[in-house]
Amino acid sequence: MLKSDRPITILGIETSCDETGAAIIERGQDGRGTILSNIVRSQLREHEAFGGIVPEIAARAHIESLDRLIDSAMADAGIGFQTLSAIAVTAGPGLIGGLLVGTVTAKAIGMVRGLPVIPVNHLEGHALTVGLTENVEPPYLLLLVSGGHTQILAVHDVGDYQRLGTTLDDALGEAFDKTAKLLGLGFPGGPQVERWAQGGNPRRFALPRPMMGRPEAHFSFSGLKNALRLEASKIAPLHDRDIRDLCASFELAVTEAVSDRVKTAMNAYQNLHANRKSWRLVAAGGVAANRKLQTALSDLATEKGFTLHVPPVSLCGDNAAMIAWAGAEHFVRNLPYERGFSARARWPLDGNAPRAIGAGVKA
Ligand code: KG4
Ligand code: ZN
Repeated sequence: MLKSDRPITILGIETSCDETGAAIIERGQDGRGTILSNIVRSQLREHEAFGGIVPEIAARAHIESLDRLIDSAMADAGIGFQTLSAIAVTAGPGLIGGLLVGTVTAKAIGMVRGLPVIPVNHLEGHALTVGLTENVEPPYLLLLVSGGHTQILAVHDVGDYQRLGTTLDDALGEAFDKTAKLLGLGFPGGPQVERWAQGGNPRRFALPRPMMGRPEAHFSFSGLKNALRLEASKIAPLHDRDIRDLCASFELAVTEAVSDRVKTAMNAYQNLHANRKSWRLVAAGGVAANRKLQTALSDLATEKGFTLHVPPVSLCGDNAAMIAWAGAEHFVRNLPYERGFSARARWPLDGNAPRAIGAGVKA
C-alpha cells in the first residue's frame, strides 16, 4: 500500500440511492485502513409500499437524517472536526436529489471547517473497498454488480479504470429486484430471492443463460426476467414450492451466465497482464453478497489462476466507509479534483468506454 507521511482521517458521506451513510475512516501511514465509525440508515420502510425506490421520498429522507448521522458518526469515532483531513462525498452516479443533499452538506461543513471536499464516484467506492478490508490494491479485475450497475472493469490503478464489459439492459440487482416483485417477495429482492432459493429445485425451470459464449464480456438480463415471468404465469397460482423452485432456477441461470461473462473477461485481463503468474478478481456491489454467486466465482477463480476477494456483506451494500476510503486513496495520491464540482446523475468509471453495441437506453 502507498505510504503517507502522516495518518489521515476522512469523513465519508453517501446519499446516492436509498441508504443514508456517514462514516469516519483512518488511513495509517502504512496505508492500512481502519473504520472508526460507519452508520447506515436504510430507507427500506419509506419505499417498501411502492415496490421500488421513489426518488423524491429518498431525497427527503436523506435531508431528515443526514445531519444527525454525521453527528453520530463523529461521536462514535470519538473525534472532533479539527481531527479531519478531508471530507469525501458521493457526487454521482445516482439519484440527483439525494446526491444534492449529500454534496451540499459536505460543502457546507468543508466551508465552515476549512476542509477539502473530495467528490467521489460511488462506483469507485465499491471498486476500492477491498483495499480497506483486505489491503488489496490495484491492479485487479473487478466484477461490479449492484442495483444500478453491472460491469466488469480492469482496475489498473486508483482513478484508472478500463471497462471490459457492461450490461446491455437491466443491472443484475435490478433483475433480482424485479423477479422478487413478480413473485410478491418484497424489496430489495436480492436477499429475498436468495432466501427462497434455498431448498428449491434449480433444474425445474429451463431459463436462458443470456449472452453465453459471446466474445465480449457484456451482460443482458431482461430476457431472463421475461422467461421467468412466462414460466410463472404458466403455473399460476403459485405455491411456496413453485416460488422456491423459480428462485433457485433464476439464481442458477444468473450464476452460470455471470460466470461465463467473467471467464471471458478473465481471458482478456490475462492478455493485458500476460507476464503475471496469478491474477486477482474482486467482486463488489450489493449483489456480490449472494453466496451462490460467490461460490461460483471462487470455483472459476481457482480454475483460471485468480484469487477471489469479496468485501464482507456489511460493506458490499451501500455505505459511507467505502466513500471515505476512496476519498482517502485520492487524497494520499494528491489526485486532482474539481473544487466547484456538482452532483452528476451519470458518471461512468471509464469515461472512454464506447457505448456497447445493442445497449438499450438504460445501459
Ligand atoms: O450496491 P447496492 O447496495 O446499491 C446500489 O448501488 O445499487 O446494491 C443493491 C442491490 C439490490 O438490487 C439488491 O437486491 C441486491 O443488491 N442484493 C442482492 C443480495 N443482497 C443485495 N442480490 C442478490 N443476492 C443478495 N444476497
Ligand atoms: Zn452501490
